[in-house]
Amino acid sequence: MTALEDHAAQTAPLPWHLRGNWAPVQDELTVADLRVDGAVPPELEGLYVRTGPNPVSGSSDHWFFGDGMVHGIRLSGGKAEWYRNRYIQTPNITDPSGGDVMSNMGDLSRGTGNTHVLAHRDKILCLEEGHWPWKIDGQLNTLGYENFGGALTTSMTAHPKVCPATGELIAFSYLSPEPPFLHYIRIGADGELKQLEGIEIPNMVMMHDFNVTRNHVVFMDLPVVFDLDALATGMPFKFTKEAGARRGDMPRNGTNADVRWFEIDPCYVFHPVNAHEDGNTIVLHVSRQPEAFGSSNDDYAEVGRLWKWTIDLTAGTVREEQVDDRPGDFGRVDDRLVGLDARYGYLMAMAGEGISEEPVYGSALWKYDLRSGQCWEHQLGDGVRGAEPVFAPASPDAGEDEGWVISLAHDTNSDESRLLIIDAQDFSAAPVATIHLPRRVPYGAHGSWVPDARG
Ligand SMILES: [Fe+2]
Repeated sequence: MTALEDHAAQTAPLPWHLRGNWAPVQDELTVADLRVDGAVPPELEGLYVRTGPNPVSGSSDHWFFGDGMVHGIRLSGGKAEWYRNRYIQTPNITDPSGGDVMSNMGDLSRGTGNTHVLAHRDKILCLEEGHWPWKIDGQLNTLGYENFGGALTTSMTAHPKVCPATGELIAFSYLSPEPPFLHYIRIGADGELKQLEGIEIPNMVMMHDFNVTRNHVVFMDLPVVFDLDALATGMPFKFTKEAGARRGDMPRNGTNADVRWFEIDPCYVFHPVNAHEDGNTIVLHVSRQPEAFGSSNDDYAEVGRLWKWTIDLTAGTVREEQVDDRPGDFGRVDDRLVGLDARYGYLMAMAGEGISEEPVYGSALWKYDLRSGQCWEHQLGDGVRGAEPVFAPASPDAGEDEGWVISLAHDTNSDESRLLIIDAQDFSAAPVATIHLPRRVPYGAHGSWVPDARG
């Protein structure tokens, strides 16, 4: 490198995922008795936990590749008992001499767990779509990777669904370089792998999430297609409209031969909100965007909007309707109604549409009545950016919106992070509790409320 090149490298702006509140934090804290404005509802006994990319070296080539760090806030007895943050102890942390994720492509034990955290049975799983999940305990200690006794021989999506009716964990894997390109994964309520089923699709496509109903799964074959030319960037996928777009419906215990494919307009969906059966139709709510990664695989100028798709299994048709023209994503419903007829969906507003390379988290949260389209807004304030809204019920048998929406906000004015607890039935009101966190928490990905009392 010449002196001029060296100077240019040193003065070049950091990529978006390494600057501002995307920048990683390196120290692992344990802080008890957090300061609270308002009152933590005493019904909330458990752990809010969220993961995100946080490269231990301080740098990663792409946001998706950073080491997973979990941030947890334990609520108990009407108090915010503690905050902890911990690296997931993957080989990249415990044995960095063994190379990074990219140099160990194909080793399913080298995942980062940087995308989602959810509980299945007595396990808390940290997930990332290219590898096996990692298990942590309630104090955020890493317990090891999870491959279901060696039965899972593929990667697993970061967005599996826990069926509230059966306790099954329903998932898929899309990172297969050879046909059939897609695999369906069904884990029983006993934690055993019941089904690993090849599903034929024409191309290897980036399939970030999918839908599950009580009796069906619905895959998204959308045209973010594997592109060898982009391999040097480490994220070898490109929006290829000509590849077309399809939704694939399959009974949950079905096989490749049972999949029915329905053509839809080309688009991309990172995250559905929920899906359910209504007679012989499947109703899906999603954050739909016209395309993804338009100019490069690090371009987030396109943002999703709430759409409703209705698949008529009798007529063989799909009706596509836009519900809202404002951008929003990271949609969730009450976990007790995943795949069932949830009335309420919670989304985070997105900002920066069309002008920003980074996925700009907005300053509002939205509660939708998914049946009527009515929307209530929770304003976070100027310069405050939100995160995925997660619902926590007041009790295991509470009504659908009888509980609180939890979200981790960052105040760009003061560079402070706060955990907000919002009454879901009084959604536009100020939070019932604002928990001041002892450090800024970088913008991350997904998380869950893990109540102490769970099935
Ligand atoms: Fe996601």
